[in-house]
Amino acid sequence: MTKTFNIASIPGDGIGPEVTAEGFKILQTIEKLDPSLRFQSKEFPWGCEFYSRHGKMMDDDGIEQLKPFDAIYLGAVGYPGVPDHISLWDLLLRIRKSFDQYVNIRPITLLDGVTSPLRSEYADIDMLVIRENSEGEYAGAGDRLFQGTKEEVALQTGVFSRKGTERIIRYAFEEARAAGKSVTSISKGNALNYSMVFWDEVFEEVSRDYPGITTYSYLVDAASMFFVTDPARFEVVVTSNLFGDILTDLGAGLTGGLGLAAGANVNPTKEYPSMFEPIHGSAPDIAGGQKANPLAAIWSVSQMLDFFGEEAWGKKVLQAIEKTLTDGDVLTPDMGGTATTAEAGSKVASCLESMMEK
Ligand code: NAD
Ligand code: IPM
Ligand code: MN
Repeated sequence: MTKTFNIASIPGDGIGPEVTAEGFKILQTIEKLDPSLRFQSKEFPWGCEFYSRHGKMMDDDGIEQLKPFDAIYLGAVGYPGVPDHISLWDLLLRIRKSFDQYVNIRPITLLDGVTSPLRSEYADIDMLVIRENSEGEYAGAGDRLFQGTKEEVALQTGVFSRKGTERIIRYAFEEARAAGKSVTSISKGNALNYSMVFWDEVFEEVSRDYPGITTYSYLVDAASMFFVTDPARFEVVVTSNLFGDILTDLGAGLTGGLGLAAGANVNPTKEYPSMFEPIHGSAPDIAGGQKANPLAAIWSVSQMLDFFGEEAWGKKVLQAIEKTLTDGDVLTPDMGGTATTAEAGSKVASCLESMMEK
């Protein structure tokens, strides 16, 4: 019996279209290798170019249009000419929030074949960062008062609900239980005397339901140092929206760069589609020249396959990425190579094909 998955594709801006094309190349390769799987996609031309023509980042009923899909595959959003807070809020953050994609799963793993900038003895890196993705510092609550006057004030209020805090921490514990790993909470209760004190209390409460799981709790400043000096101490990490954003770019820097870091925005209830995307942005500095590394976007395809319940394929895609890295002959400039985006994507596809021939 054929299984068909419907994917809404939003290539977006800058390098987004270049890297998502390679993600689809991998899905097409899987279709060839496994005729029982079908990936149907529909492309949505939303992004900054769309904004320049229509004055909005997506159709008014865009969220309705996306609802029936099994997943959304997104490249990147944001380009000079459209203020970032408009482009990102009207498209990316709108999708994350409308579909209650409250879990942001970001693996920070040093794959074989990648040299970390850390001294090798410190470079034992394999953590799963679970970032709260629906509220916190990104709640969008605030105001601009007395604009343009000397009394001007900007307010940006963090919103940490019991429901939102508890469900993300619980999600992290469930992941840790399944993997037999520890959970580390990263917060900042010493300075953020309401929100993060509350976060720490909820972490403590939830941890009581998981007596077999080892827990650690760090302040985000010290945690940032330990990411660099002793990353091996982190296994499953749970943290707030903003801290998770920053820490995962730091993690990416330790494990091969933004060209290699993937993320999944998941609604675990599956009531609405989840969204898969590299964690990097639209990289205007290299866009349009086939210079972008597609491996992050391909890794998010691996996460999408896991989410579809096709874990065996998810794993094979990750292995094909790793083989591409250990072979080292077809890599993009950010990884020290000379290959184009398309050549790097084709290399992963051919690694996948040759793995299947064995
Ligand atoms: P960025 O991630 O786009 O780029 C940071 C640096 O990393 C740049 O030097 C870039 O060339 C490099 N880089 C990123 N991805 C790469 C890849 N795949 N291969 C090789 N090099 C890569 O971050 P930025 O420059 O801070 O932001 C640019 C735009 O992207 C802004 O508009 C920002 O708001 C937006 N942004 C969007 C997303 C998203 O859509 N998920 C994420 C982050 C930033
Ligand atoms: C990310 C991005 C987004 C975020 C921006 C573009 C709003 O940096 O996915 O990491 O902060 O979540
Ligand atoms: Mn980010």
